[in-house]
Amino acid sequence: MDTYVCGKCGYIAFGQAPDTCPVCGAPRKAFELDPGAIKKPADPNKLSELEKKHIPVIKLNRQCGLVGPGCVDAHIKIGEILHPAEAKHFIMYIDCYIDNVFLCRYHLTPEALNPVLGIHLRAASGKLLVLENCNLHGRWIAEVGI
Ligand SMILES: [Fe+2]
Repeated sequence: MDTYVCGKCGYIAFGQAPDTCPVCGAPRKAFELDPGAIKKPADPNKLSELEKKHIPVIKLNRQCGLVGPGCVDAHIKIGEILHPAEAKHFIMYIDCYIDNVFLCRYHLTPEALNPVLGIHLRAASGKLLVLENCNLHGRWIAEVGI
């Protein structure tokens, strides 16, 4: 599927560029088609250490303890090996989508934050896609069926 990148905030749109960026409000003309916008592991069955530090890990809990029935918790961790959170090397943001429709962006700083995120989904089905952006190593994704 085609990936379009917002030149202002780095948001990725799948399939086609939107009229306006849902993250920063930039117009369609700010988007550029970029087939290489998202990094992919060389061999998904044999991940390198760098790949293990960047590909998101998603765990679903269908018994939400906070909201109750109908809420699915998605716990997201950046990296099977936890990614560094240092001034020179950190995860800048985590974007979430369901069925390629944008849900939210979580901005991170390297200050006292682990590169993890918990979100609470109302959706009972679909495909949750998580995209992270490392300041040094670019964008990586993972997805899971809800
Ligand atoms: Fe990195």
